[in-house]
Amino acid sequence: MLIGDLVTLREVAWGDLAARQEWFRDPEVTRYLGWLDGVPVPYLQDDSPGSLEWTVALRDSQEPVGIAQLGKLDTVAAQASLGLVIGRKELWGKGLGADVIRLVLAYAFQVAALNRVWLTVESRHLKAVRLYEREGFLAEGVLRQARQTQDGLQDVTVMGILRPEWESRHSHGG
Ligand SMILES: CC(C)(COP(=O)(O)OP(=O)(O)OC[C@H]1O[C@@H](n2cnc3c(N)ncnc32)[C@H](O)[C@@H]1OP(=O)(O)O)[C@@H](O)C(=O)NCCC(=O)NCCS
Repeated sequence: MLIGDLVTLREVAWGDLAARQEWFRDPEVTRYLGWLDGVPVPYLQDDSPGSLEWTVALRDSQEPVGIAQLGKLDTVAAQASLGLVIGRKELWGKGLGADVIRLVLAYAFQVAALNRVWLTVESRHLKAVRLYEREGFLAEGVLRQARQTQDGLQDVTVMGILRPEWESRHSHGG
């Protein structure tokens, strides 16, 4: 179990499934996940070997509130992708997302010895883009009109953070 200031990341349990179904019934939660007609498209379906998925739980109550993933593990280039959903929208804007990112990055660089963590995010999802930037991700490029959504084709930004960048943020207390 990974323990942050506000949340813990723990193994996914059968008891979390009902909560997951509820989160994904909320169109505001799935809005930027690339779902079409209420159905998930591959973003959240990463069954590549070595992928990790955790339940995000509130640290004090252990109530499940979201999902974190370290997926698409590439052991040759020592990289993996980060996925993050806080499924309870009344808990947005309280720092849970930032806490999850810090825990996943510490695991990726310190435990899994990765060199790069990357993600894709719809470019219009500014709250998420800003959050990833604050946690040290750099925008690496834009895939123009690369995702079909309920609102039409959307640009997708690729973001990444390299191990030395993460280490230097930590050695400076950032
Ligand atoms: C995107 C998402 C992960 C953000 O999670 P979050 O828990 O709201 O993130 P944080 O609270 O750490 O940061 C979000 C905002 O709250 C602010 N915030 C953080 N802690 C705060 C606090 N204690 N008081 C006030 N504001 C705070 C941050 O500054 C940030 O502000 P900004 O939007 O102006 O930049 C969440 O909205 C989500 O899961 N959405 C649905 C799924 C999704 O879109 N996932 C991402 C796919 S790429």
